[in-house]
Amino acid sequence: MSFHYRDNRLYCDEVDLDFVAEQFGTPSYVYSENILKRNAEVIKNCFIDRGFQVSYAMKANSNPKILQLFKSYGMGVDIVSAGEYQLAKHVGFQGSEINFAGVGKTADELKLALEDEIDHFNVESLFELEHLEAQAAQMGIQASVLLRLNPDIDPQTHPHISTGLKQNKFGMGAEMVTQLLTHADQYPHINFDGLHCHIGSQILNPQPFLDLIDYLEIFTTALAAQGVKLTHLDLGGGFGVNYENPFEDILETTPYLETFAESAHKKLGSFQLHIQPGRVLVANSAVLLSRVLGVKENGDHYFVVIDGATTDLIRPALYDAYHEITSYEKKDVSRLGDVVGPVCESSDALAKQRQLPEYGTGDLLTVASAGAYASSMGSTYNMRPRSPEVLVKADGSIDLIKRRQTFAEMISLY
Ligand SMILES: Cc1ncc(COP(=O)(O)O)c(C=O)c1O
Repeated sequence: MSFHYRDNRLYCDEVDLDFVAEQFGTPSYVYSENILKRNAEVIKNCFIDRGFQVSYAMKANSNPKILQLFKSYGMGVDIVSAGEYQLAKHVGFQGSEINFAGVGKTADELKLALEDEIDHFNVESLFELEHLEAQAAQMGIQASVLLRLNPDIDPQTHPHISTGLKQNKFGMGAEMVTQLLTHADQYPHINFDGLHCHIGSQILNPQPFLDLIDYLEIFTTALAAQGVKLTHLDLGGGFGVNYENPFEDILETTPYLETFAESAHKKLGSFQLHIQPGRVLVANSAVLLSRVLGVKENGDHYFVVIDGATTDLIRPALYDAYHEITSYEKKDVSRLGDVVGPVCESSDALAKQRQLPEYGTGDLLTVASAGAYASSMGSTYNMRPRSPEVLVKADGSIDLIKRRQTFAEMISLY
């Protein structure tokens, strides 16, 4: 069902979005539980049922209701900070369902995660390995580690979300990883269980993933020849979605999931395989519902000013990302223009140079694909309170899964 028109009005499953706007105000994120469940089911079928350990990258969207839903499908979580750790625990994840990634972890974060005996750390540098060894030694315990290998594979995505090239800050080169693994005895409190790679995000072409599988097959064979026996391989996340056709099914927006899972299983199946998907599970499950504040023309430039902004969805400003604009009332497009927010930055645009209808003050529209890296990247710039999140449930009921922040809450920090 998903987001669709009924009698020329936009619905999320059985719910009229005008009703959501009246109940909860705008801007607000509206999620479809049906889509979230469908996405989780596909990831389960492709990966969990083939024996992969799936850790949802909660940076994409950390709403507890969404975390609980994915947990119910057998997923753990990939975290990158003490805050994400606390939230994962709040939701009920056991230490054994958590892996800790990220390019820099504080001493407190390492200690916290060691105390809880989390499944493993993805270690990205020599300094981090040394800190972890020292901390584990002090506590008299062993730390399970996957070394993050930077395979120098071009993920063919936006440079800001490419992570597996030499010039990116992430991971360690093959030489360094080999050096560490062949001298593992220098780290007596570390169990070197395996390798982790995450080459980038929003990857639409399956080839970089297939290259990664081949690379790891060759690399682990070479390591084995040097006496290094590993048991775990984490292939990361990065599965891209179709932002231009956001209301399609996951298997249409990301058609290569099955091929990827099959190929990894075939070539690397002797290892316990892991993935850490984020975006693919959540991006197209939500829209940002906004109201038009007014329209204006500067010369021949047409602007539609809405109440949603970069503070709700920073991706267009950050990566020039495309997000589909859909009117609540089905209208014919008639002119070229920009959909912009009220924030005091020229980059505060949700959509640029699009064919748009004539809008008027009070009209509703949606910015699609607002489920990933939207609310979780939100801010209070310009003292704008964080927007609420509304879940349209599979049974047709509506659940406010995050309320709007109040001004008092914002001011109370000062
Ligand atoms: C280490 C790691 N794993 C997983 C992810 C999730 O990526 P995606 O949301 O593209 O699946 C990221 C994203 O930045 C990441 O850095």
